[in-house]
Amino acid sequence: MEYCFGCLKDDVEGFCSSCEKRLFDRSKINPQFKFNWEDISKVIDGYPAGFSISGVQTKGFIGKITGTELSSNLNHDENSIYIIKPLLSRFDLPSDSPANEHVTMQMAKQLYGIRIAECCFMRFANGTPAYVTRRFDYNKDEEKLSQEDFASILQAKKDDNGGYKYFAKTYEDFGDILSPLNKIEFIRILIFNFLVGNGDAHLKNFSLLETSDGDMQLSPSYDLMNTKIHVNDSPIALNLFRELERTSLPRGKTYTYTINDFIELGKRFGIRSRLLENIVVEFEGTKDEMTGMINKSFLSAKAKKKYTEIVDKNFDQLFSN
Ligand SMILES: Nc1ncnc2c1ncn2[C@@H]1O[C@H](COP(=O)(O)OP(=O)(O)OP(=O)(O)O)[C@@H](O)[C@H]1O
Ligand SMILES: [Mg+2]
Ligand SMILES: [Zn+2]
Repeated sequence: MEYCFGCLKDDVEGFCSSCEKRLFDRSKINPQFKFNWEDISKVIDGYPAGFSISGVQTKGFIGKITGTELSSNLNHDENSIYIIKPLLSRFDLPSDSPANEHVTMQMAKQLYGIRIAECCFMRFANGTPAYVTRRFDYNKDEEKLSQEDFASILQAKKDDNGGYKYFAKTYEDFGDILSPLNKIEFIRILIFNFLVGNGDAHLKNFSLLETSDGDMQLSPSYDLMNTKIHVNDSPIALNLFRELERTSLPRGKTYTYTINDFIELGKRFGIRSRLLENIVVEFEGTKDEMTGMINKSFLSAKAKKKYTEIVDKNFDQLFSN
């Protein structure tokens, strides 16, 4: 069985028509590039500073669609509309990283209605997998929308290790900034991240984005993946609470999260108990739906098995008391 490279719908070769429309504003797009990662990574370094986007890993930018192809030869004065992320350059099962991010993003959207950066799985000319996302920081008229990540919004100071991504702030700190609706969304995203094994939801992986009214709201989610397929990291990237529940423990002791921790954070945000109870009910019975999507994904058999085991364990831990 073949599945849509965008939404994983059954029995589709390449992209289904609604994914073509949503992702590319047209029909008939070839899910395989005519170029390889090496061809574009050489060009990226030559672009002016304003063109690049922050993030540890080098990313590729493509803007133009020529006929049925997404093309990589972007002029300096053109906006990039898509970002291509290549394979992880280190860690376990690196060639599964695009499929991992793709299925994780699709689960967030399709199973839980979390707003995401639109994305798909693709292949380079030589068959290597790629993750492609459509930029949300441009509007329909291709005007740049302002975007600011939480490292900057919360004015996080670098910690002793020279990084500010993980320990400088806690998820509780986000509550000072987020609107009431965004707070509910944020709690749901945190629960999702825990269940899928995303230990990398750090300060730069959340942003506020300018809306059409000109105010700043939580942007669509991006960079969602099961990091535990690739690396043995912590259950969640930041501490939930200002009292640093996890990192204040004596060495060798671990903190075991349950759903009550996420409810407690919701309460601290001022979310009504009734709404929080609804969120729990909504997530609790969804393990099989996740497993179903993981099995349809572009992951290797080994990665599917690992993903499923991690999800199994996380559901058990979160909901078993
Ligand atoms: N669809 C998108 N639209 C607009 N901006 C995006 C989109 N996807 C990612 N970005 C921006 O690009 C940055 C890097 O992307 P992303 O986090 O996916 O890459 P990464 O290499 O995995 O980063 P890191 O490993 O540092 O977390 C993000 O912090 C975000 O600001
Ligand atoms: Mg990131
Ligand atoms: Zn589709």
